[in-house]
Amino acid sequence: MSKETYDTLIVGAGAAGMMCAIEAGRRGRRVLVVDHARAPGEKIRISGGGRCNFTNLGTGPANFLGENPRFATSALKRFSQQDFIKRVDQAGIAWHEKTLGQLFCDDSAKLIIRMLTDAMREAGVVLRTGTGVASVDRAGTGFAAVLSDGTAVTASSLVLASGGRSIPKMGATGWAYDTARQFGLRVTETRPALVPLTFETGLLETLLPLAGVAVDVVVRNNPEPITTSASDPASPASSSPQGGRPNKEIGFAEAMLFTHRGLSGPAILQISSYWREGEAITVSMAPGVDVLARLKAAREANGGKAAVHTALGHIVPRRLAESLCEREQVSGKLAEVGGKALMRLDAAVNAWTVKPVGSEGYRTAEVTLGGVATDQLDQQTMAVKTVPGLYVIGEAVDVTGWLGGYNFQWAWSSGWAAGQVC
Ligand code: FDA
Repeated sequence: MSKETYDTLIVGAGAAGMMCAIEAGRRGRRVLVVDHARAPGEKIRISGGGRCNFTNLGTGPANFLGENPRFATSALKRFSQQDFIKRVDQAGIAWHEKTLGQLFCDDSAKLIIRMLTDAMREAGVVLRTGTGVASVDRAGTGFAAVLSDGTAVTASSLVLASGGRSIPKMGATGWAYDTARQFGLRVTETRPALVPLTFETGLLETLLPLAGVAVDVVVRNNPEPITTSASDPASPASSSPQGGRPNKEIGFAEAMLFTHRGLSGPAILQISSYWREGEAITVSMAPGVDVLARLKAAREANGGKAAVHTALGHIVPRRLAESLCEREQVSGKLAEVGGKALMRLDAAVNAWTVKPVGSEGYRTAEVTLGGVATDQLDQQTMAVKTVPGLYVIGEAVDVTGWLGGYNFQWAWSSGWAAGQVC
């Protein structure tokens, strides 16, 4: 068995692990990064449709979920979106703002990976891909690990940077959670987030003809009120309204896509992080439009000769208009349609309340909600308070961002913060 000694062992060569390695390496630390995938930064490579939405201009703690969303504040300030943009500019990578402050590479996400791997090399970091960790334990004041290739590694710092459970096909594992538990840490409930929602078969059948239709919407959740247990007034639900469960009313104005499996698109992915089983979501498919007034005006024009689905098709996509008229059993010429029927259509368009039965799960989820509880970590450095030398960064932590570049920014910021000290 070969033996190697480093100052810092980082498990996971994703966004957070690579950023951490660069910073620690620049401080002169001898750093080993291991990843069981064949190449580093696989999620960066596929992100943003291959162009990597690498940050968001408006990143702040309000864009994150978790037991304590304010936990992220310090790291996000210490290494901000502007700091990451500077690095991207220095590397000569061209970028653009797509929408809502979301920054993408003009060319390819691979340029971000190259920027990070070049910087790691220059900082003297050793990167070993295709290598997992068979076991890890405390050894004196440091750590001893056995890698999957049999190498015995000792290091004074250990960084858990192996991400969450999303997309197991790409190598995602619960390793960080299991290892955190092994060291006595609490892990909050984890669940798929930024994920398409699914519906019961009957409803899905009515939605199937709409597969492929995209529409700009405002989608809201309808959180169940948190009930306070009279017998246990100090229960987590009553003492912490967040309690790992974002019991908060919120709305997102973005695109929604009907698919063969249910609903997707940015608006749905966003609300999925706030939705819980048993709850409904409400979708406004012509936000800001007084549908009833528009239909009534159309009824007055040309003697109401236009078909009702045609008139509605001027407000929402034609296929959606046809489907809504069919569902609400409103047909014929506008002149023949009464006020109550028009009100039903108005509600069908702008107050569609629907109960998902589930989500597509970790198979397609962009992130994992929940993770290593933040009350055990130092918010400046991501150091575990009770285990000197142990750090947790990136998606493994109970800090989950909205869709739009926030998750990578958290990975850069938390990785940078740990890299200053680990
Ligand atoms: P990350 O998952 O990136 O890295 C963890 C690494 O650890 C992986 O390389 C993995 O192979 C390795 N690993 C896991 N288990 C291991 C083990 N047991 N042993 C050794 N290695 C192990 N975010 C965003 O801000 N903008 C975007 O455009 C997108 N787009 C996007 C698209 C898709 C399809 C997905 C799935 C996700 C996104 N995201 C995103 C989310 C973003 O990818 C995610 O938040 C970050 O990659 C998290 O970075 P980490 O470094 O924490 O984990």
